[in-house]
Amino acid sequence: MLQKVRGTRDLFPHLSVVLKNTVKTFSEVAELRKYDYISVPTLELEKLYKRTLGEDSDIVMKEMFRIQGKELVLRPEGTAGVMRAYLSSFACAEPKRWYYHGSMFRHERPQSGRYREFYQFGVENIGSPTSPFLDVDLIYMARSCLLQLGLEFKLFLNYLGTTEQRKQYTAELTEYFSRNLEKLSYLSKERFRRKNPLRILDSKEPEDQELVQQAPLISTYTADTHFSLVQSTLRDLGILYEIDEKLVRGLDYYSHTCFEFKYGELTLIAGGRYDALAEQLESAATVPAVGWAAGIDRISSLLSPPPLHSVLGVVNIGNTHSFCLKLSENLRLQGIAVVYDPSMQFKKQLQFLSKEQPTHVIFIGEEELARNTVKVKNFSTQNQREIGIEDLLEDPSIVNKI
Ligand code: HAM
Repeated sequence: MLQKVRGTRDLFPHLSVVLKNTVKTFSEVAELRKYDYISVPTLELEKLYKRTLGEDSDIVMKEMFRIQGKELVLRPEGTAGVMRAYLSSFACAEPKRWYYHGSMFRHERPQSGRYREFYQFGVENIGSPTSPFLDVDLIYMARSCLLQLGLEFKLFLNYLGTTEQRKQYTAELTEYFSRNLEKLSYLSKERFRRKNPLRILDSKEPEDQELVQQAPLISTYTADTHFSLVQSTLRDLGILYEIDEKLVRGLDYYSHTCFEFKYGELTLIAGGRYDALAEQLESAATVPAVGWAAGIDRISSLLSPPPLHSVLGVVNIGNTHSFCLKLSENLRLQGIAVVYDPSMQFKKQLQFLSKEQPTHVIFIGEEELARNTVKVKNFSTQNQREIGIEDLLEDPSIVNKI
């Protein structure tokens, strides 16, 4: 038998219903803020990510799925593609609020909560002026999504400053790690060799921890009012946060505020400001932007299935198939879920319905039809009553009285 590709998942209905509900909750939160849905391609040019995430980022170095012989890749994230789309159509810094969702692809070592194909929901606020209050609003939105889903989380913040400030800090980090190169793990030596000392701060390798703890702090280079305002506004809103100076994010396009919402060690939502990304894509205009993306697979794994909507079952007794098909469809047109499988005999239909767990079953026999009625049985109490077809169609909730 053929196996699925490593790091991918078949989402059978008991899982996909949770994912679908998670995306629905996120979409509703975004739409209440008048964010519009945008869909961008899954295939992009490789150079889009080389320029924006950084040639030496982990994603570009070793995690992209390349299409052989072409300069195409499966998108590892959404932000760069959304900015590319924005610049191709709205070059004059017209503010846009967009949300998107879809599969992303990274060739990472698969483990629980980490897949090679995974689903993200993201929001991007592009073209509005750089503002600490807007950064907070984006954080506020992410927090609302998690609260609506009833999840616990911790918010971690850091401030990456401007490109110039980060350059100065990177120079000091380079100097610090070069003095301690021998003590670094193999992976971190690689990061150092790729001139990427900031990423060493992200290291999970045990041998790096002491050096990382004692590394110079980014805040000595980046202290400014933008971040003070982000923090004081969060406090005004009663939003708890912790500063994590080691939170540098793995992608080159971030500047200013960056943040992560975590559940234990698991990052559920991550994002930040990326004012320099448009320039990395050779935009003539400066385009400030801020956004985040949520790991829908991870978030959904913490949730239970949403409560079932009421479902009606239909059973034909004798030759009443046409009427059953019609009645089922008319009820569905009123937004009610109806299960009816006309291929089965009476007994099989009952067995089938006991698995589907409808709240009520409607029995339709020739005798009842002659009286313009149906028999309705409450599946849990087993109470039963005959009701008029017209009454049922006029107000299907009538079954709840049985
Ligand atoms: P990211 O931190 O790379 O940021 O990914 C965002 C979220 O996607 C993570 O916090 C995590 O929940 C989920 N995620 C990432 N990799 C995997 C994986 N292999 N398996 C399962 N879930 C995963 C970005 O992608 C940025 N584009 C976020 C952003 C939007 N920044 C500004 N706007």
